[in-house]
Amino acid sequence: MEAADHASPRFSKFRVGAAARIGGSTDVISGWNVEDQSLAAVLHAEQAVLIAAGHLRQGPVKVLRMAIWGHGDVPPCGRCRQMIVDSNPAARVLFPYGGGILVAAAEELLPLRFSLPPTPG
Ligand code: THU
Ligand code: ZN
Repeated sequence: MEAADHASPRFSKFRVGAAARIGGSTDVISGWNVEDQSLAAVLHAEQAVLIAAGHLRQGPVKVLRMAIWGHGDVPPCGRCRQMIVDSNPAARVLFPYGGGILVAAAEELLPLRFSLPPTPG
């Protein structure tokens, strides 16, 4: 909720905040959506968290939990789901939905997701 206060949704006016715990750190890492003036590079709150987490870790990030917040239903978009599940299929994702808080594993939120074939050799 605090992260959403930092959001910059100049066009949609829809504030989104996200906060996560990641492997190897006790920090709670937060992020928020930013809508740029070109409208070509909107940053989603979940992506902002992943970027901040990478900066903190200076290496690969394993999301353990991520909470997303905004007014009304705020399920993460498909691209954010892919990024979270790539980080850790078992990551617990929490978001407001249907008047409550829905909690699901990242892999449950994107069952038929793209994944690269194993590299030969
Ligand atoms: N938004 C997010 O921050 N995360 C999502 O996964 C869904 C959408 C933001 C982007 C945009 O600034 C606003 O919500 C309306 O789409
Ligand atoms: Zn998204």
